[in-house]
Amino acid sequence: MKKHVLLYKKLSPVLMDRLQQQAEVTLIDELNAEGLQALRQALPRAQGLLGASLRLDAELLDLAPQLQAVASVSVGVDNYDIDYLTRRGILLSNTPDVLTETTADTGFALILATARRVVELANMVRAGQWQRTIGPLHFGSDVHGKTLGIIGMGRIGEALAQRGHCGFGMPVLYHSTRPKPAVEQRFNARYCSLEQLLQEADFVCLTLPLTDQTQGLIGRRELALMRPESIFINISRGKVVDEAALIEALQERRIRGAGLDVFEREPLAPDSRLLQLPQVVATPHMGSATHETREAMARCAVDNLLAALAGKRPPNLVNAQAWTGQPG
Ligand code: DGY
Repeated sequence: MKKHVLLYKKLSPVLMDRLQQQAEVTLIDELNAEGLQALRQALPRAQGLLGASLRLDAELLDLAPQLQAVASVSVGVDNYDIDYLTRRGILLSNTPDVLTETTADTGFALILATARRVVELANMVRAGQWQRTIGPLHFGSDVHGKTLGIIGMGRIGEALAQRGHCGFGMPVLYHSTRPKPAVEQRFNARYCSLEQLLQEADFVCLTLPLTDQTQGLIGRRELALMRPESIFINISRGKVVDEAALIEALQERRIRGAGLDVFEREPLAPDSRLLQLPQVVATPHMGSATHETREAMARCAVDNLLAALAGKRPPNLVNAQAWTGQPG
């Protein structure tokens, strides 16, 4: 008998077809109030879940006694209560690798956009305010040759380092849980303390996951270590940063600008003080949002889910302790 999958993210026809060949699928079109109600009603039958951007906590998952696997269409797994899933033996999988390069592209887009004031100046042109050759008031700062600081040297951090080092001749500093000699060799990167990175880098880029240890990692004290000409970039998770402290640092010109793809609360409120600051480039959590990458992520999630439901170890298992089959 086919397993029952609850899908809360639309798939391409090819992937939907593939999933439906092997599972009975209930699709929740949108996670609005109506969709959430339908999700709650379908959870009691669900053996597999596939989707993203939904906080799946114990309260919700208690409604799904038959659940065997959750396939997240994301690399970040901060939306899940992993301990709870593991205790229940539910396999959680994610989609690493396929989004690495695209997310690093987004990081670099934010670096360039903030340093060269791309959005601000493009808006000026669009508003018909380009009336003469621009002068120092509108100049930005160089990117090439400046020091790139990366906090969290995982896959995305490495891809960012590659862009900075190979494409823009940037010296690379990094801070992560441990030094990575291979990265140092490939990108001539230097491992340093968080404090040193904040003091020395021209671009401070966050690429680390949100965990109990990283929540609030960048607060008032850390921002105070940055220089007035340095720029803050966040493509990880909003909660890694104390957003109020960041706004203060920007308002008081203690740092030059910020390129932010993630926020404490998403979607960002239209009246957020961040949006009143021209030196902020804010994007809508679009790190991996290209047609190619989102399709690859969905394919990866379908692979993970079908493997799990067939009793096989999903290729991207997050909670290895929940796996009771053959060692992977
Ligand atoms: C991810 O995959 O974690 C991206 O940030 C989208 O949520």
